[in-house]
Amino acid sequence: MRFFQNILLLLCLLALCKSDPSRIHLKFHCNPQVGTWCGTLIVYEHDVFSEHDIMATDSFCETSDTKELFYEFSPGGDGSPGYEWSYLLSHNCSSHGHNHCLHPKGTANVPVEGLSIAELEAEVFESGYKAKTLPLYVDPTVPPIRNLGDFCQQVTSCAVDRLLSILNVDKNRFQFLGTTCLMIAAKFEEVFPPEIREFSIITDNTYEVDEILQMEKFILAQLDFDVALPTAAWFAASFGKRMKFNERMTKTMRYMVDLSLLDVHFLRYRPSDIAAAAACFANVQWGKEAWPKEMIEDTGIDTDDFVDALKDLHHMYITAPTSEYKSIFNKYCETDEMNVALFSHQSTNSLFSTIPVQ
Ligand SMILES: *[C@@H]1O[C@H](CO)[C@@H](O)[C@H](O)[C@H]1NC(C)=O
Repeated sequence: MRFFQNILLLLCLLALCKSDPSRIHLKFHCNPQVGTWCGTLIVYEHDVFSEHDIMATDSFCETSDTKELFYEFSPGGDGSPGYEWSYLLSHNCSSHGHNHCLHPKGTANVPVEGLSIAELEAEVFESGYKAKTLPLYVDPTVPPIRNLGDFCQQVTSCAVDRLLSILNVDKNRFQFLGTTCLMIAAKFEEVFPPEIREFSIITDNTYEVDEILQMEKFILAQLDFDVALPTAAWFAASFGKRMKFNERMTKTMRYMVDLSLLDVHFLRYRPSDIAAAAACFANVQWGKEAWPKEMIEDTGIDTDDFVDALKDLHHMYITAPTSEYKSIFNKYCETDEMNVALFSHQSTNSLFSTIPVQ
C-alpha cells in the first residue's frame, strides 16, 4: 500500500513538474455612466515569428464598471524563457454604443519557469481601434492602422506599387485603391483583420462596403490573386532569426525596412537585398560583424549585392528626422520600439569602412 502511495505521489509530482502554470489576471475598467457593456475577448500568447497561440476566447456582458477575468494555462513552454501574454478585446463600452477593438501595445511578460502571474489592466471606455480619424493611405503608419503588423504594411505597399505599374490611377481614387489593398493585405496577413466596415470608416465613409468589395474583386483580378510575395520584412525576419538578433537589433532592422517603403528608389532593389542591407545596418549599429561569412554562404547574398541599397538606407536613416513623412521615424522613437530611431549614427558613419566594398 505504502509503495503505491509513493508511486502515486511521484506521478503527481511528475505531472506538476511537466509544465509550470501561468496565471493571467485581466481587469477592464469602463465608465459607470455607460450601463451594460459587452465584450468579446481573445487571450493569446504572442509569438514573434509564427502564429500567435490563442489560449482562450470569451464573451461577457457587464453591468458594473469593472470586469475581471482570471485564467490559468499550462502552455508547456514556448521555446524561449518567457511567455508574452496579450489580448484583443472587442467591446462597446463607449458613449454611442460603437464597437471598439482594443489591442494593447505591449505584452505582459512572465517567465516560463515557476508559477507566474501576468496582470493586464486597461481603461476601455472609448478606447481601441475606432478609425474615425481619417488616415489617408499615403501614410500607412497613422495610429488606427498601426495595429496591423509589419508584414501587412509591406504587402499593402507592394500591392499598391504593382497596381500603379499597370494602371493609370486618378489621384482622387488613390485613397480608394490604397484602402482596398490594405484590406486585402490585412485579410492575408493578420490573425484578426479589421472588419470591412472599418475600412469604409477610414475613408470617412467616402466608399461603401459594397464599393470596397467591388474594388477588391477588380484588384485581385489585376494581381492574378498573387498576394503572397516575399517582402523585405519577410526576408528580414528570417535573417534576424538566423543571426540570433536581440530585440533591439530586430527593431533597428525593422525600422530600416520600413523606411525603405518611403522612397520609390527602393523599388529597383530586390526585397532580399533590402533586408540584407537592413540587417547589416543593425549589425554595425550594435557593434556586431557587418555581414558574417555564414550569411553569405547561407543566403547567397554578398555585400556587393546590397551595398547600394545600404547606402540609400543609410541616407534614409540620417534624413528621417527632418523628412516630410515622419510617422515611421516617430513610431520608432517611442519606448515600445526601444527608441531605435534616436540612436546616433556615429557608429554607422564608419559603415562603409567595415564592409569590404570592391
Ligand atoms: C452593448 O451591446 C449589448 C448587446 O448588444 C447591449 O445590450 C448594450 O446595451 C450595449 N451597450 C452599450 C453601452 O452600447
